[in-house]
Amino acid sequence: MDLAKYGPWALITGGSEGVGAAFARQLAADGFKLVLVARKPEPLEELAAELRGKGAEVRVLSADLSKPDVLDHVRAVTDDIEIGLLVYNAGANNTRGNFIELPREVPDSVIAINVLGQTEFARHYGAPMIARGRGGIILTGSLGGYLGSATLAAYTAAKAFSRVFTEALWAECQPLGVDVLHLNIGFTATPAMARLGLPIEYAEAPENVAREGLDNIANGPVWIVSTKGNLEQAKRTSIVENRAETVRAFQIGPREDTGKAAIEQEELANGS
Ligand SMILES: NC(=O)c1ccc[n+]([C@@H]2O[C@H](COP(=O)([O-])OP(=O)(O)OC[C@H]3O[C@@H](n4cnc5c(N)ncnc54)[C@H](OP(=O)(O)O)[C@@H]3O)[C@@H](O)[C@H]2O)c1
Repeated sequence: MDLAKYGPWALITGGSEGVGAAFARQLAADGFKLVLVARKPEPLEELAAELRGKGAEVRVLSADLSKPDVLDHVRAVTDDIEIGLLVYNAGANNTRGNFIELPREVPDSVIAINVLGQTEFARHYGAPMIARGRGGIILTGSLGGYLGSATLAAYTAAKAFSRVFTEALWAECQPLGVDVLHLNIGFTATPAMARLGLPIEYAEAPENVAREGLDNIANGPVWIVSTKGNLEQAKRTSIVENRAETVRAFQIGPREDTGKAAIEQEELANGS
């Protein structure tokens, strides 16, 4: 990763574990200084100690991205440094259920993190990047954002917002020297997925996902992680005609079917 173009500091939201931690390790190895944000202090401190042990300068902040004043808290640890790379990674959906029946806090939190958070952080950290004429922004998406799925209405819609928002931001920023990428992620073996009881043995490694994001930051506006079947899945679920048929056919299934779905997706990609 080009430190002169995207450094000296990278800010990673959701930077304590999984894909966020993989971003942090790879960027630290490339000489970046890091600001890592997540809620639980212990995993943040543990990762920071590991990276400092290898010579990296690291700041950590325990903050909740779903809170309306979160940017103020993050600014308190970034206002005196030059953030050349923003990786807005956190955003998974923990609680599923029909939208009408879910407590309001569940979709509100998903929208706060994925829609309001991504836009607010992109605006705040993007402005000085534009002024400098260099920098990068990676906003994390999901294959689920190509199609509305029952029990995941706010999540699938928020990731669709993220993709379309990134495309527009990319078109605005790229001529001004700032790379913007929607990193579209399929099933990935993160601690968050393991905690939900998903069969992560069928999932992509977080290290590969982060590596593809960094390697393709200049290949925006959208990069679909190259795990077998991801591209085919995106094509199948994003067709314009027959939305009723498509939405019925390609719903994200219940959690217990996740392993089966991952195998089917890969088999389909292999033509078997
Ligand atoms: N894993 C997959 O299969 C998959 C598939 C498609 C897309 N994605 C996308 O990839 C990204 C990473 O997903 P993930 O599976 O690693 O789970 P995640 O929960 O989105 O990310 C985990 C990281 O974010 C932090 N975090 C979570 N909620 C937070 C909050 N409200 N405020 C601050 N930090 C928060 C976690 O630490 P704390 O818990 O300590 O806060 C941890 O560092 C997400 O945007 C997700 O939508 C993942």
